[in-house]
Amino acid sequence: MSIATPGPYSLVPFVSVDDMMRLIADTGVEKMLRDLADYIEDDFKRWDSFDKTPRIAAHSDDGVIELMPTSDGLTYGFKYVNGHPLNTRDGRQTVTAFGVLADVATGYPRLLTEMTLLTAMRTAATSALAGRYLMPQGARVMAMIGNGAQSEFQCLAFKAICGIDTVRLYDIDDRATQKLARNLADGGLRIVECASSQQAIEGAQIVTTCTADKQYATILTDNMVGAGIHINAIGGDCPGKTELHPDILRRSRIFVEFPEQTRIEGEIQQLDPDHPVTELWQVFAGQAPGRQSSAEVTLFDSVGFAVEDFSALRYIRDRLKVLPYFTDLDLLADPDDPRDLYGMIRRRAEAVEV
Ligand SMILES: NC(=O)c1ccc[n+]([C@@H]2O[C@H](COP(=O)([O-])OP(=O)(O)OC[C@H]3O[C@@H](n4cnc5c(N)ncnc54)[C@H](O)[C@@H]3O)[C@@H](O)[C@H]2O)c1
Repeated sequence: MSIATPGPYSLVPFVSVDDMMRLIADTGVEKMLRDLADYIEDDFKRWDSFDKTPRIAAHSDDGVIELMPTSDGLTYGFKYVNGHPLNTRDGRQTVTAFGVLADVATGYPRLLTEMTLLTAMRTAATSALAGRYLMPQGARVMAMIGNGAQSEFQCLAFKAICGIDTVRLYDIDDRATQKLARNLADGGLRIVECASSQQAIEGAQIVTTCTADKQYATILTDNMVGAGIHINAIGGDCPGKTELHPDILRRSRIFVEFPEQTRIEGEIQQLDPDHPVTELWQVFAGQAPGRQSSAEVTLFDSVGFAVEDFSALRYIRDRLKVLPYFTDLDLLADPDDPRDLYGMIRRRAEAVEV
C-alpha cells in the first residue's frame, strides 16, 4: 500500500447534505417518513435493549448545544445538535445536527452523516407515529402553529402516517406561513391560512405547536383546547423553553419519550416532578393504553430522544445499500503496523521530500 493511500480501516461512509437530499428525493418524502416511523417503532418496542441517559446539554443565553448518545450493545450512535431560536435573524438554522453510528465491538465509526434534514424527518415521523396511537378516531384536520423549518415535515408526516387531509396554519410571521403554504401547495393537503392560533385550532382534532422562543411561552391557553384534542407539542424542548399553559397539562393525559429527560426539558418541567406520565414505548409495545376515550385530551410532550436518532441512523445505514449516496471519508488513521502510528507521519513526510 502506498503511504498516501488510505488503509482498509481508514474509510468511513459520509452522507453529505446533498447526498441526504438525493436520498430523500429518490425515496420520496412520505415513504421515508413512513419507513422512519417503522424503524423508530421497532426500536421503541425493544426499549430495554438500549442504554438510556438524558442528553448532555451545554446551555447559553442564546441556545443550547447537545450530545445525544445511545447503544443497543452492538451498535453505538450519537447526534450533535443545537437549538438557537435567534439564529434565523442572520440566515442560520435554529437547529443543525450531524451524527455517527459505530460498532461497539471495535469502537470504529461505520457512518458519519448530516442530520439537520434527518432530524426534521425523524422528529416528524416520531410525532405522527405517536399521533397514530393518540389522535381521536377519524381525525383529518391539524392546526400547525409555528410555520418554520420543521413545519412541512410535520404536516407531511401526519398526512402519510395518520391520514390527515387538511392543515390550518398560523405563525406570528406571515412570511413563514406563506412559505409553508407554497411548499405544501402540491402536497395533496387542503391548506387554510389563519390569522391567529385561536382561528387555526377551530375544527382541528390535532394541534401541533412548533414554535421557537427561549421563554415560558403560551402558544395555547387552557380555554382554547376543547375535549378530545390531541396536542403534538414540539417546540418546548429546553429548560425555560415551553409552549403550553400549565393548566392544559393538568387536564391532559401526557405521553413522553424518556421521562428522565422530558422532566428537565419538556412541557412537564412546569409540573411537579412526580406528575404521572405514560412512556410512548409502553404504548407501542401494548403495555399501556393510548387514547382511551373520544373526550380525553392527549398530549405528546416531544423533546426528541437519542433512540429516535439511533433508529434514523440505522435506517440510513440500511438505505445506503440500495441508494449508495455517500463518499468514503479518510477519517481513521490506519498504519500498516497498528502500533506504529507515529511512523505514518514520518513515512508521509519522507515521501513528500522525495
Ligand atoms: N421535539 C423535538 O424533537 C424537536 C426537534 C427539532 C426541533 N424542535 C424545536 O421545534 C421548534 C421549531 O423548530 P424550527 O427549526 O421549525 O424553528 P424555526 O425558527 O425555523 O421556526 C419557528 C417558527 O415559530 C414561529 N413563532 C415563534 N413564536 C410564535 C408564536 N408565539 N406563535 C406562532 N408562531 C411563533 C416563528 O415565527 C418561526 O416561523 C424549535 O423550538 C426547536 O427547538 C424540537
